[in-house]
Amino acid sequence: MNKLIFFASGLATVLFMSCGNNNPAPVPAPTDTIAKTQPLAENQLPDPAAFRDTVDGQPTALYILKSKEISVAITNYGARVVSLIVPDKNGKPTDVVLGYDSIGKYIHQPDTYFGAVVGRYGNRIAKAHFHLEGKDYTLAANNGPNSLHGGKKGFDAVVWTGKQLSDSMLMLTYLSKDGEEGYPGSLQVTVFYLLQGSQLTINYKATTDQPTVLNLTNHSYFKLNGQGSGPIANHQLAINADRYTPVDSTLIPTGRIAPVAGTPFDFRKPTAIGARVGDTTNQQIRYGKGYDHNFVLNPETRKGPAAIVQGDQSGIELAVFTDQPGIQFYGGNVMTGTNPLKAGKTDAWRSAFCLETQHFPDSPNEPSFPSTELKPGQKYNTETIFRFSAK
Ligand code: BGC
Repeated sequence: MNKLIFFASGLATVLFMSCGNNNPAPVPAPTDTIAKTQPLAENQLPDPAAFRDTVDGQPTALYILKSKEISVAITNYGARVVSLIVPDKNGKPTDVVLGYDSIGKYIHQPDTYFGAVVGRYGNRIAKAHFHLEGKDYTLAANNGPNSLHGGKKGFDAVVWTGKQLSDSMLMLTYLSKDGEEGYPGSLQVTVFYLLQGSQLTINYKATTDQPTVLNLTNHSYFKLNGQGSGPIANHQLAINADRYTPVDSTLIPTGRIAPVAGTPFDFRKPTAIGARVGDTTNQQIRYGKGYDHNFVLNPETRKGPAAIVQGDQSGIELAVFTDQPGIQFYGGNVMTGTNPLKAGKTDAWRSAFCLETQHFPDSPNEPSFPSTELKPGQKYNTETIFRFSAK
């Protein structure tokens, strides 16, 4: 039997088993609701007028894409997914990503990368420094000694040029200048968001005029039970990875590729996110304050799902497909509960998760990891698909 089909059907089997005992795990009380005047109605797309502004001299906007099954709102500020509405197991439209209801909040709240395209280098570069083609480059250290998600003003915080190509397709372009945030080379980046049926495809393309490093990803915070539904502890997660990259205390990979077997990082069978996150006997869990680690995807994930997650209340299932070698599973360990989100909710601790398809963190300093160098004449072209269903 095809291993991938087995992987997917294995999730269905385990979920079926856990639903069949008529004794579901207790649903945690919502903790992320705050009173707010005139909040956006739940599961309603934000108002494009609330996203019309001028930032850094560039116009910002909100683009709405629709297919028969799902709809998505995307702003050109940070190329961010603001809302993603999919039907739950009863057909109820459900917004499954965290975000704000206006451009002002994206600009003025402390940045958490909600829904953004992160770059030039998604995740960390150790000591904010790397060596490439005989030259040393110094970046902004914005995460302890390290550089995180492109530096002080990464691709999440710039205005992209948006062009809606059809009801279901958006093109966003950005020119990152030579030396921006310390990175070499002028980099021309294009991101396409495309809805087809019940899936959202993100296609990233780039070219450079000098050797540089590049690692683009999307930083959507998913919450498959919908806005304000409490912790994600009972979401069932499977990641098609036999190995992961353990980190040091500053979350930089040690260079070792370690087996997940026998650790809280073994998600080869669907497991509740909360089942082992509190295992502080595990040093990696202590370093990450929970899950904040890169998984080394098994090679067959080029053909099938890299990860599958199901919301225990909504029945909404997210399958992630990618051509990238890794995926960062971040379980919302530093979410503060202080940011005023859509529909009068807040970003409570561990109430959403990210699955950031990517090259491994700190690859520019770790020769044993797959290379993230992009040279002039090469075409960067990668794709990630988020596919939704409900049962
Ligand atoms: C990182 C976390 C970080 C979070 C910020 C994730 O991609 O791995 O360490 O706290 O982004 O939102």
